[in-house]
Amino acid sequence: MVNADEVAKLCYERFSQLPRRGKPEPGREWTLLAAVVKVSRCSGSDSDEKEVVSMGTGTKCIGQTAMSPSGDVLNDSHAEVIARRGCVRYLIQELQRAVSGQGSSVFCPADEAGRWKLQPGVSFLFFTSHTPCGDASIIPMTDSQSQPCPPVTPVEDGEHSDGGGGGLKRKAEKPTEEQDSKLPRLEEAKQEESESLSSDGNPTHTAVETDSQENKSRYSTDRSHCVGAGLHPRLPDIHRTGAKCVLGGSTDPRQPGVGYHSTGVLRVKPGRGEPTLSLSCSDKLARWTVLGFQGALLSHYLQEALYFSTVVVGKCPYSQDVMHRALVTRCSHVSDLPAGFRVCPPVLLQSSLEFPFSQAQTELQHLAGQGRMSPCGAAISWCNVTEQPLDVTANGYKHGVTKKALGTPKARSLLCKWELFRSFLSLVAATEPSARPDSLRAPELQTYWDYKKASGPYQRAWQQLCSQAFPLWPCSDRSLLLFQQ
Ligand SMILES: *[C@@H]1O[C@H](CO)[C@@H](O)[C@H](O)[C@H]1NC(C)=O
Ligand SMILES: *[C@@H]1O[C@H](CO)[C@@H](O)[C@H](O)[C@H]1NC(C)=O
Ligand SMILES: *[C@@H]1O[C@H](CO)[C@@H](O)[C@H](O)[C@H]1NC(C)=O
Ligand SMILES: [Zn+2]
Repeated sequence: MVNADEVAKLCYERFSQLPRRGKPEPGREWTLLAAVVKVSRCSGSDSDEKEVVSMGTGTKCIGQTAMSPSGDVLNDSHAEVIARRGCVRYLIQELQRAVSGQGSSVFCPADEAGRWKLQPGVSFLFFTSHTPCGDASIIPMTDSQSQPCPPVTPVEDGEHSDGGGGGLKRKAEKPTEEQDSKLPRLEEAKQEESESLSSDGNPTHTAVETDSQENKSRYSTDRSHCVGAGLHPRLPDIHRTGAKCVLGGSTDPRQPGVGYHSTGVLRVKPGRGEPTLSLSCSDKLARWTVLGFQGALLSHYLQEALYFSTVVVGKCPYSQDVMHRALVTRCSHVSDLPAGFRVCPPVLLQSSLEFPFSQAQTELQHLAGQGRMSPCGAAISWCNVTEQPLDVTANGYKHGVTKKALGTPKARSLLCKWELFRSFLSLVAATEPSARPDSLRAPELQTYWDYKKASGPYQRAWQQLCSQAFPLWPCSDRSLLLFQQ
């Protein structure tokens, strides 16, 4: 049995050892942390050995128009996605060791020629400091969290903001029409699309009355349900997600309180001002319970998909039932999967230890005069590889590159599709032709998409998952996958 606190502590300690580059400014910026932990059963001992092999921070996702046809931009920089992609880098290096006879600490030969499997006693677990955005973050509030009159929270003076909100901020609920018309519309022109932050750190885009009724004070409380506070019982409420329902399915009813969201549906991440094509982290984690986290390319080399045995969440609002609904129930009925794939739901655990750079901790440490709070714009990836283990990005490109360098190799993250494809091709090149997996022998393989498509069982498993559980999952634009090297 995994000890959730031990895992959280290990990940926080590993994070604290990373250099400062890309880390949040204490007391002002916050971020999310995710990690992949390798667990090795030690023979002759009760305890397992645990080692962080990949970790990621990040809260941002770029919009569709910024996506690149050459695969050189990271469009999704949520911590969970960064941690998985870093883990793919790590696994490619381990396979490289395996195929070149250097000895891997992860893989050993499988029965089928050219394929590999996990060594006996080795497994992987996933840590995330907060419930994943999307369905797993739509959580009923406990009594103490759903106060009739939430404590004051700072708001900005009308400018666009992607930060600053407390977890309890509820600007989204518009007053009823009747109340609305009574309000002085002093600054009608300032009514604008503004981003307020929801409990999972994703901006929720809502038209907000910017300070009109609140008189330019730096503090504002949402009083829309405070009338007669004390006389009425507390209004039950839920934590919300900034991720929006995918088009073509249910939409959120947006009723006050618990009726705000639909549950159990696919959602896309919010980006700055525009929706993205990237699915919420809840949806991606659910997908990994069936397809594994190795991706289509590495599936060529593996006898079986790789699944997380356990998902550990750090201290934050949490519901076991909701995590189960989001990560397990939605895919538990999927059948007719090809050999090497199965429905493999993780054990779900929560730790009582909070990430020191969480939004809630940052709020506690925030000092007046520090400037307004915001999510940290950078994403850090670290994974245990020998060459360039650290990769810090902002807006999908290497952190700190000049505008002029955008589009050049210098600006590429090592986690982008292009670079992961390049490492994969170098793994193929390092594999003796006679020891290559059969699926890679076809001579016509050229583009990234060719290599993904040739991963037959993976694509068939994906079709089954899509048709049986996620028919609305948006297909990524094929033109974004046709690059070659
Ligand atoms: C605006 O704020 C001032 C004090 O800061 C207060 O006296 C006044 O009543 C407020 N007006 C409204 C409409 O809330
Ligand atoms: C990285 O992995 C190697 C084994 O491949 C291990 O010896 C080393 O301690 C790991 N480094 C860290 C920082 O975990
Ligand atoms: C980038 O966007 C595409 C949709 O075009 C999506 O399939 C892909 O998963 C996104 N990348 C990441 C890293 O999530
Ligand atoms: Zn997310």
